[in-house]
Parts: sequence; structure tokens; C-alpha cells
Amino acid sequence: MTHPASEHWASRHGFVLASLGSAVGLGNVWRFAYVAGENGGGAFLLVYIVMVVIVGLPLLLGEFALGRSTQRECAAAVHAVAAVSSPWRHVGLLGVFVSALVLAYYAVIAGWVLRYLGLYASGHAASLAGPGARQAFDAYLADPLLPIVGQAVVLFLTAWVILRGVKRGIESLNLVLMPLLGLLLLVLAVHAATLPGWRAGLRFLFAPDWSVLSHPQVYLAALGQAFFSIGLAMGVMITYGSYLAPDQPLPRAAVTVVAGDTLFALLAGLIIFPAVFSFGLDPAQGPGLAFVVLPQVFAQMQAGAWVGMMFFLLLSIAALTSAVSLLEVPVAWASQRFRLPRRTATLVLAALLLAAGIPASLGYSVWGDWVTSGGRRVLDLMDVVAVDMLLPLNGLLLSILLGWVWPREQALAATGLSPHAGGRLWHAALRYLLPGLMGTVMLTSLWRL
Ligand code: PHE
Repeated sequence: MTHPASEHWASRHGFVLASLGSAVGLGNVWRFAYVAGENGGGAFLLVYIVMVVIVGLPLLLGEFALGRSTQRECAAAVHAVAAVSSPWRHVGLLGVFVSALVLAYYAVIAGWVLRYLGLYASGHAASLAGPGARQAFDAYLADPLLPIVGQAVVLFLTAWVILRGVKRGIESLNLVLMPLLGLLLLVLAVHAATLPGWRAGLRFLFAPDWSVLSHPQVYLAALGQAFFSIGLAMGVMITYGSYLAPDQPLPRAAVTVVAGDTLFALLAGLIIFPAVFSFGLDPAQGPGLAFVVLPQVFAQMQAGAWVGMMFFLLLSIAALTSAVSLLEVPVAWASQRFRLPRRTATLVLAALLLAAGIPASLGYSVWGDWVTSGGRRVLDLMDVVAVDMLLPLNGLLLSILLGWVWPREQALAATGLSPHAGGRLWHAALRYLLPGLMGTVMLTSLWRL
């Protein structure tokens, strides 16, 4: 059997900020903007918020409660509540696997972000004006080495934070960077309100076009985005919950994280869309939105070099605090499971993840000819396998585990909710609503394959 976590957060505040740091990431800015752009803006937003409240919040609370009450990392936490001979014991391993898989390609994208931050900070962003933006992005990706260097730098920084431990590494990092992130976001949002496209941006984000509600794909996209953005079903929130002392209230922390994450995505939308509309560009640009469209916007804007630098700084911070949480999951697993020193576990895993992510980088250069029949490259394929397949699957398994396998009284006591109204609602959501909804979503997506 594994050992319980040996370290705890120094403060409740630190735990909430670290969880928020994990939730707020590339998903809120880079992914949210293009998924909303491709799925109809305002109406997508509505579906997204409903998914966050009815699926995201109950599952997040369940993950925190499972981690805190078992005081163990994700795989061992699941092991602890399932019966000795039950196959459910192994479900937690899926979280360890998905977090590692996501980090392998997340570090690649975060590496691109660092590169762009470097271009803006060193005054080399002029080449990104007009159609040159796409050429510059393509040329950068086509270099076999440069993107791998970026990816390695991201993993190195992430590993360095993890090596310092839960309190001195993860918690200290978030205590410093999260307020800075909030400040950058506010400055950029206020600036966006001065742009001529502000109203068009607002309309795009808030005016619902109800016709998209008849497309099943909008619901799938909203659910996947909610999982990815909050950071559910990856073991992160179970592991972060396990570093919490037993007497800390959870429901309020869960509400803060979910609300903060959603607010951040909305404000990021309010920064991106007015800018895109002000300069007559197209918001439905797919994953290149942040790297191709926005640099063109910044190039035309007054003081655009500064705005661009702040934007990529914001994105770098958001990505780093999320990458840290993703690495913590396999590190906590390896060190508790095999009694490895934290140092060894971190270094070995960071090296393995670098190797696992290299094909995602090379998919744009040396292996550029290798594309699936659906036009996907290695990185897209990793994202689809992780976010569209493994996340809903793990979400489904986790909600069944929390709602059916974990004895009800224990589960309710672990959340700190009253066994009446709030607790009953929470448990019913996990038991019926989540498995039903996620089962439907998975069947629909299989159907569409
Ligand atoms: N939530 C992060 C984001 O929005 C990504 C992430 C997912 C981080 C899962 C940790 C765990 O970018």
C-alpha cells in the first residue's frame, strides 16, 4: 500500500490559489476563444455555463473530497475507497495517465507561447504584421529544433517548481503569480473596452444565436471544454485535495475555483473578440487564433507591442501554473507508490514527458507529411484522444465511483455538505445526472465517428 501525502498546504488561501492556478490555463484563453468562435459564440457560452454548474461543480467537489479524506494521490485515493477485489480500484490510474499525456503536448503549446513572449519582449514582433503572421508562425513550427527547445524550457521550469515541493514550490509560485495574472487580465480587459470593436465583440460573446442549440456537437464541445478548463478527471484536483488538512471547508473552495475559472475565460473572451473585430479579422480561426490572428491585431493597435507582450506574459503564467499541476499528479503517484524520492520521480518523469512530446513538435516539421485522414497532426491527435475520449471516459468512471462505489455517508461526510438539501443534491448529481449526461455524450460521439 502506498504512503499518505507527507506535505500539506501552508494555508487554505494557498490551496485555493493553486487550484485556481491549475484551472486557469491555456484552456481559458487559447482553447476557449477558438472553441467558442467555432461553435457560435453567445449560445455556446450559455451551454458552457450550464455544463460548468451542473457537471463541473459537483465533480470538482467530489474530487477535492476524495483527495482530502484519503490523504492520498489520485490512484491510491481511488484504491482506498473501492473494495479490495473490485475492478474499480484501478480507475485512478487513468487520471495519472491522462495528466501525463496532456502535459506531453501542453508543454509544446506552452513552448510556442514562451517563444512569442520572447519575440515581443525583445522587440522582434514587427515581423508578425499582416499576412506575415501566418508565415512566421508556420516557419517557426517548421523548424525541427526551435519548438523542442521551447518545450524543454517549459518542462524544465515546471520540474524545478515541483522539485521544491508542495509548499515551497507549487504554493509559493501560485501566491506570487496568480495576483499578477489577475492584474494583467484586468489591464488588458480595460484596454479592450477602448477599442472600436468592443460592441461587436460583446455581441459575439453574449448575443445568443439559438439555432446552434440544435447541433449536438455544441454540447460535446461545451462539456469537453468544461472538463479541460476546470481540470477535471485528470487526478489534479484529487491530488491537490490530498494536501489539505482535514478541517478545511470544501464547498466554498470548489465554488471559488469554478467561478474564478469561468470569469477568467469570459474576460479573456472580452479581450480577444473586441480586438479581433476591431481589425476586421475572423474569430473562428481554430488553434492558430492566438498565434496568427492576435499578432496581426497587435501590429495594428496603438502600443500594440506592449499589449502583445502583456498578453503573452499572461498566457505564459497561466500555462506554467497549469503545467505544474499536471506534473504533480504522476510525480505524487510515482513517489508515493514506489517510495521514490521526489527528486528522482520528478527528473525521470520530466525526461519521459519531453520524449513523449517531441513527436507533437515534429508533427509540424520533419513529420509534417504525416496527417490522419481527418487532417489531424500528432498534436491534434493527442488532444483529441485525451480531451474528447479519455476525459469523458474518466469523468464517467469517476462519477460512478464517487456516486455509487464510495459509500454515501462517507462521501457526504467528506464534502462537509449538510446531509439534507445541499448534500442530497450533490449526491444525486453524481449518481444520476453525471453518468447519464456523460454516457449520452460518449455514445453520441461514438455514433459520429
Ligand atoms: N485547466 C487547464 C487549462 O485550462 C489545463 C489543465 C487541465 C490543467 C487539467 C490541469 C489539469 O488550460
